[in-house]
Amino acid sequence: MSRLVGLFDSGLGGLTVLRQVQRHYPHSPCLYLGDTARVPYGTRSVSDIRAIAAEVVRWLRQQGVEVLVMACNTSNALALDVAVAEAGVPVVGLIDSVAAVIDSDHVGVLATPATAASGAYRRAIHAVRPAAAVTEVACPAFVPLIEAGDLQSAELRRAAQEYVAPLLEAAADTVVMGCTHYPLLRPLLQELLPPRTRLVDPAEAAVERLGPLLANLGDLPEGEQVGHAGDPLLPEARLCVTGCATSFADGALRWLGRRPAVQQVDLRSAGCAF
Ligand code: DGL
Repeated sequence: MSRLVGLFDSGLGGLTVLRQVQRHYPHSPCLYLGDTARVPYGTRSVSDIRAIAAEVVRWLRQQGVEVLVMACNTSNALALDVAVAEAGVPVVGLIDSVAAVIDSDHVGVLATPATAASGAYRRAIHAVRPAAAVTEVACPAFVPLIEAGDLQSAELRRAAQEYVAPLLEAAADTVVMGCTHYPLLRPLLQELLPPRTRLVDPAEAAVERLGPLLANLGDLPEGEQVGHAGDPLLPEARLCVTGCATSFADGALRWLGRRPAVQQVDLRSAGCAF
């Protein structure tokens, strides 16, 4: 029997994680929640982020999710414990997955203000490379501009130039895209950073960790994860949002390569007060 994989984010960003899950585990059904009524998360208070995470995860649990992937770094940084407590099923985080793939002592991290302020990436990297110089940069303009949809805008380029400046100064040769929205900016970041800079998407390592969990749940024989990047036909996932379904479907077209069906849901049906 296939296990339902749940993922959530504030908006479109977590679709970069969903795509990777689907490519690796094409037989696993996925349920994605974009909490678009409350995007962005990254400029909210810690208590808001934790209360929202509790509500979202409770709703996902009610939908029968059997494994949870935190497709949002901000929630991962500030509310992983909340998610674990509410989920009652295995939870895969992004931030603790990054340590396994960092092989430099000059690391930059681009993240939301809340994630950067939490120091979660710095701690995860220092756990395996105590001597690493880690430069964390808060990027408040990125998520609203990415959600707005124009990845070619002069405003986005200006913001990116400002955010990469401290990384250039620190001579970071490895840059972690510490928000699931940022992989869409990969070409722009690559252009603004020195040519050999390694851009790391923590979701790649996180998704690898999902395989053994699914295997443990009896979902697939270990090693069966056969998808590869570039699969043109990804399976359908159930996509839900708390805001406008139509604008999410329009935005998702760019990320998924097709316009998906999207359902608006009311999380208060999960019995939450937030
Ligand atoms: N994409 C999310 C993250 O990885 C949330 C960004 C936001 O809503 O500010 O942090």
